[in-house]
Amino acid sequence: MDLSYRDPVSSRSFSCLTTIILLLGSVLSLVEAGGDETDRLALLEFKAQIVDHGGVLSSWNDSSHFCGWYGVTCGRRHQRVTILDLRSENLAGVVAPDIGNLSFLREVYLQNNSFHSEIPLQFGRLFRLQKLFLNNNSFSGQIPSNLSHCSNLLILSLGFNTLEGNLPADLSSLSKLQILIFEVNSLTGDIPPSFGILSSLRVFGIMTNNLSGTIPETLGRLRNLRALGLSQNNFFGTIPISIFNISTARILYAAQNQLEGSLPRDLGFTLPNLEAISLSGNLLTGPIPESISNASNIGEFEIRFNNFTGKVPSFSKMRGLNWFSIGQNNFGGGQSADLDFLCSLTNSTNLERVAIGRNAFGGPIPDCIGNLSITLSAFSLNDNHISGIIPNGIGNLINLEMLAMGANNISANIPSEVGNLNKMKSMDLGRNSFSGQIPESMGNLKMLTILSLHDNNLWGSIPSSLGNCQNLLLLDLSFNKLSGNIPSEILGLSSLSRYIHGTSICTG
Ligand SMILES: *[C@@H]1O[C@H](CO)[C@@H](O)[C@H](O)[C@H]1NC(C)=O
Ligand SMILES: *[C@@H]1O[C@H](CO)[C@@H](O)[C@H](O)[C@H]1NC(C)=O
Ligand SMILES: *[C@@H]1O[C@H](CO)[C@@H](O)[C@H](O)[C@H]1NC(C)=O
Ligand SMILES: *[C@@H]1O[C@H](CO)[C@@H](O)[C@H](O)[C@H]1NC(C)=O
Ligand SMILES: *[C@@H]1O[C@H](CO)[C@@H](O)[C@H](O)[C@H]1NC(C)=O
Ligand SMILES: *[C@@H]1O[C@H](CO)[C@@H](O)[C@H](O)[C@H]1NC(C)=O
Ligand SMILES: *[C@@H]1O[C@H](CO)[C@@H](O)[C@H](O)[C@H]1NC(C)=O
Ligand SMILES: *[C@@H]1O[C@H](CO)[C@@H](O)[C@H](O)[C@H]1NC(C)=O
Ligand SMILES: *[C@@H]1O[C@H](CO)[C@@H](O)[C@H](O)[C@H]1NC(C)=O
Ligand SMILES: *[C@@H]1O[C@H](CO)[C@@H](O)[C@H](O)[C@H]1NC(C)=O
Ligand SMILES: *[C@@H]1O[C@H](CO)[C@@H](O)[C@H](O)[C@H]1NC(C)=O
Ligand SMILES: *[C@@H]1O[C@H](CO)[C@@H](O)[C@H](O)[C@H]1NC(C)=O
Repeated sequence: MDLSYRDPVSSRSFSCLTTIILLLGSVLSLVEAGGDETDRLALLEFKAQIVDHGGVLSSWNDSSHFCGWYGVTCGRRHQRVTILDLRSENLAGVVAPDIGNLSFLREVYLQNNSFHSEIPLQFGRLFRLQKLFLNNNSFSGQIPSNLSHCSNLLILSLGFNTLEGNLPADLSSLSKLQILIFEVNSLTGDIPPSFGILSSLRVFGIMTNNLSGTIPETLGRLRNLRALGLSQNNFFGTIPISIFNISTARILYAAQNQLEGSLPRDLGFTLPNLEAISLSGNLLTGPIPESISNASNIGEFEIRFNNFTGKVPSFSKMRGLNWFSIGQNNFGGGQSADLDFLCSLTNSTNLERVAIGRNAFGGPIPDCIGNLSITLSAFSLNDNHISGIIPNGIGNLINLEMLAMGANNISANIPSEVGNLNKMKSMDLGRNSFSGQIPESMGNLKMLTILSLHDNNLWGSIPSSLGNCQNLLLLDLSFNKLSGNIPSEILGLSSLSRYIHGTSICTG
């Protein structure tokens, strides 16, 4: 999320108009004489309520004018505080209500400290305020609806606190608001439908709260929205079709709610700028719309743990795809072409994770997996109805750290090419129909911590080369047709805490 905003810099030329403005300015500062004393007193009262472990406020003393104090910036014309920047300074205590006396304040950065108690209502008196960062503290109580008087507010960032109560509907009067973030608090109640009139809003983040109700259809009117974060709440009902109509949206997170319904067919056309979508952990149904391919900037596609069905369409235009997670759904129909979509991922040169486990995929693993990007580090296909063999091309995926193929019906030999995968940490090929011998080359997998080959038809002796896997914690060879002794090289592995062979379990 882009939180960097530049202030509009006014380039003044010395025209008559400017002279008049300057004159007016000096008249105003005469009228407000004594204003700077107000600011000094307010700052001192603010300091008095703070526990300053790092001593960063030691410069706040009478030996210098407050405009020179650490973290304080004053305006050029009148000596009034315009910026207060004390972020990440290990400050604790409360924010004194006197902060509301700093009437020229435009920007407040108090994030990433340990302030507690309520956010003072007196912030509502700061009608020049544009940016208020109070995130990552321990503020409690409610979000003061008095903030709705800060009519120049552009950024309101209150995430990572312990705020309770509702989202104040009054905040919908803040028509200039661009960034509104309340994530990771304990807020309850609904999203006020009136938030749909915050037409300048670019970022709206309320993830990880206890909000509920349905998502208001009016949010679809936020025609400038780039990022919408609704994950980890208790929202239910369908996602209003209007949300999928916010063509500017780049990030759409609504995971871990109780949302139902299906995705609109034209999603890829109505959200062409999408970069990340996460809808995991809901009750969503129906297919992934084929139009998704049009949203070619998607890097993160995460819809695991729903009840999606059907054939997975092509993702071939998404060259930046990085995270592809569709596990724990009902995709596939036991058909031989079920996994063809994997070939559409071969042009995604940034691929790191492909997770398609716990679905109803059938058919063989296509040979093209050998052409997936070598950036791939996690590949899970477990708990499907996949048959056929492991293509030799698996050996190309040299950065794989996790390979989960358990609980399918994959057969024939385990290709010796798996020995190329020397970053491998966890490999599960259990509960399949593999036969033949355990490849000697597996001894090359020096990083391996978990190797599960149980419930197959493997035979022959256990290769002593596995004794080279010095990090092995768990080795499960049970329910195969292996013969001979357990090589002493394996029994000698000091790392091994669980070795399962036959039906006997040896614990080291
Ligand atoms: C007062 O602030 C000045 C810097 O402005 C600093 O050098 C001085 O040590 C401070 N005095 C005390 C008593 O902290
Ligand atoms: C938050 O503050 C701590 C020190 O209190 C610092 O180590 C950390 O980098 C800060 N985090 C951010 C995001 O600024
Ligand atoms: C500053 O703010 C406090 C609390 O809001 C108020 O009681 C006090 O009168 C104010 N002081 C000045 C000088 O305005
Ligand atoms: C929040 O602040 C704590 C220290 O007060 C720091 O350790 C942590 O990294 C901060 N978290 C964020 C998200 O800035
Ligand atoms: C709330 O904001 C209004 C409008 O700026 C202001 O008059 C009032 O003093 C504020 N409330 C408190 C308790 O400061
Ligand atoms: C959310 O609300 C439920 C009850 O409605 C409560 O049990 C739960 O602790 C709350 N969670 C948080 C994070 O506040
Ligand atoms: C989607 O947006 C178009 C204009 O971009 C508008 O005509 C249409 O009514 C919107 N549909 C919904 C469901 O909001
Ligand atoms: C997306 O769809 C639009 C409208 O149909 C089309 O003009 C555009 O070329 C498509 N983009 C991609 C990457 O397919
Ligand atoms: C998923 O959908 C099927 C019908 O398509 C239904 O039988 C099943 O109960 C659903 N599962 C969940 C977890 O909702
Ligand atoms: C990959 O890109 C090439 C070149 O643009 C294209 O010819 C090919 O069809 C693409 N492959 C897939 C699987 O989309
Ligand atoms: C992998 O890609 C190469 C060219 O980049 C192509 O010749 C080969 O047929 C592809 N293999 C598979 C199995 O798709
Ligand atoms: C597993 O595949 C074999 C053929 O390789 C087939 O005979 C068997 O019926 C399959 N088992 C299941 C449970 O699909």
